[in-house]
Formats: sequence, structure tokens, C-alpha cells
Amino acid sequence: MRIGVIGTGVIASAVVAGIAGDGHEIVVSERSRARSGDLAARFGNVRVAGNQAVVDGCDLVLVALMADAAPGVLAELSFRDGQRVASLMAGVPLANVAAMVAPAKAEAILIPFPAIAAGGSPVLVCPPSDLLAGIFGRNNHVIGVPSEADLTPYMAAQALLSPVAKLLDEAAAWMAERTGDREGAERFLRILIGGGLAAAPYERAGVLAAMLGDLNTEGGFNAELRQHFEAGGAFDLLRAGLDKLESRQAGEA
Ligand SMILES: NC(=O)c1ccc[n+]([C@@H]2O[C@H](COP(=O)([O-])OP(=O)(O)OC[C@H]3O[C@@H](n4cnc5c(N)ncnc54)[C@H](OP(=O)(O)O)[C@@H]3O)[C@@H](O)[C@H]2O)c1
Repeated sequence: MRIGVIGTGVIASAVVAGIAGDGHEIVVSERSRARSGDLAARFGNVRVAGNQAVVDGCDLVLVALMADAAPGVLAELSFRDGQRVASLMAGVPLANVAAMVAPAKAEAILIPFPAIAAGGSPVLVCPPSDLLAGIFGRNNHVIGVPSEADLTPYMAAQALLSPVAKLLDEAAAWMAERTGDREGAERFLRILIGGGLAAAPYERAGVLAAMLGDLNTEGGFNAELRQHFEAGGAFDLLRAGLDKLESRQAGEA
């Protein structure tokens, strides 16, 4: 498929790297030159062009601009009937995107994560789209989200990435103060947590409940640390943080 990218920033670069091996013809917008040039240098099927040439040369356009820049940038471009557009812009309703890219069809909001470059990462698609599932489901996990209201809790919960990374970072530092081996500590914790969670098929239900049950031996280290977190209000804090992000999104909508 001929895929174009308007806004070759951090996330678009990861997306292109994630799908470049799948035989598409990809054209990315020139700005930022360091990123677009790097993609073209790394992948023989990626070329760089000006914004209108990107739109003209593709069937599917990925818009990966910052939300506040999009109205001005897209207003200067002519889209065509039959073309499809996916918006990577968190917090911009699809109806607004549709108005900006008419007469092209605003296919869906597509929310990738930086790990899309390596594969195995979730990709949220709202509403579900066979076209986008076919493209992004080859190396990653496409999760269809039925409505933009449903997308809000996904966007809040994805923010767990940073606090979870911080939890592991603190634990690795704590270990290294004792073992003198920071690298080994980090490797151990990444395999322990990542490997443990990825071991069961993603289609299986109830994996977290089963895991918590298995880790609940009375007097066991895991049960004790979890109870310590509970007593300190850590999980109430988590819920309050998610509520806060949910309210913030409602305010921004
Ligand atoms: N980062 C993530 O993990 C992530 C995940 C999912 C969705 N998103 C969404 O993706 C969008 C981009 O995020 P990002 O983190 O990738 O930001 P970013 O790195 O700042 O990317 C935005 C890109 O747009 C370019 N741009 C600005 N004006 C342009 C113009 N007139 N023509 C062509 N390109 C232009 C910028 O170029 P300059 O640098 O030269 O200004 C920059 O390369 C945001 O709406 C964000 O909500 C991000």
C-alpha cells in the first residue's frame, strides 16, 4: 500500500520503522529533516517529500502532527475523494479530523506506542478498521476501540507505562546498592515482570487474577509487599491518578 506520513516526529518515526519491512511504499514529510532523512536512509522503500506531494502520492495518510499545529498545516493541503486518513493525534475528535481532510475519509484515530518500532506493542484503533488492522496487526497487536468515549480510559491507563518503569527503576537501584550490579538488576526485573506477563497468550482471560492468586501465599514475599503497598494507599493513589487523567481529557475534549 502507498502510505504517507504528515509530521515525521518521534511517534511517526517509530511507526514507519514498525511497518517498513512489510513491503509498503512509504513517503514521509520532509520536516523534521533529521528524522525523515534517517528513515529514508534506513529503509529503501521510504522516501521524503513535501507535504502536498506526500498527500498526492499515497492512498492512506497518517497525520502525526501536534494537535495545535494540525489545523494550519492541513488547511494548506488538498486531499482527494477515496483517500483515507488515520489520525495519531491524541485528544482530537475524529469528526474534527474529518473536517480538516475532506473529501478524504477520516478512517480512525490510531494510537501507537514507541515500542511499535520493535513489534509486539499495542496499537489502539478507534473505531475498529479492517484496513488499519491489516497494516498494523502484522507485527503488533491492534486493539479495536468501539467509541471515542471508550478511548478515554485507554488513554488514561496507558500512562501507567511511566510509573511502572519508575517502580522497576527504583527497585533496580535498590538492588544495585546491595549487589553492585545495576545492569544485572535491571535485566532480572525486566525479564521477571515482562516475561511473566507475556508468557500467557494475550487472548486468555483472567491472567492477572490467576497471577495474583498464585502470588498470594500467606506470609510470602509477594503477598507481603503487595499488602505493604495496600496499607500505604498505593492502589487508591493509582485510581485517583487515573480519575484525574480522565477528568483532564473530558476538559480538553
Ligand atoms: N509520542 C508518542 O508516544 C505518541 C503516541 C501516540 C500518539 N502521539 C501523537 O502524535 C502526535 C505527534 O507526537 P510526537 O510525540 O511524535 O511529536 P513530535 O515529535 O513533535 O512530532 C510532530 C512533528 O510534526 C512536525 N511538523 C510541525 N509542523 C509541520 C509542518 N508544517 N509540516 C510537516 N511537519 C510538521 C514537527 O517538525 P518540527 O520538529 O520541525 O517542528 C515534528 O516532527 C501528537 O499529536 C501526539 O499526541 C504521540
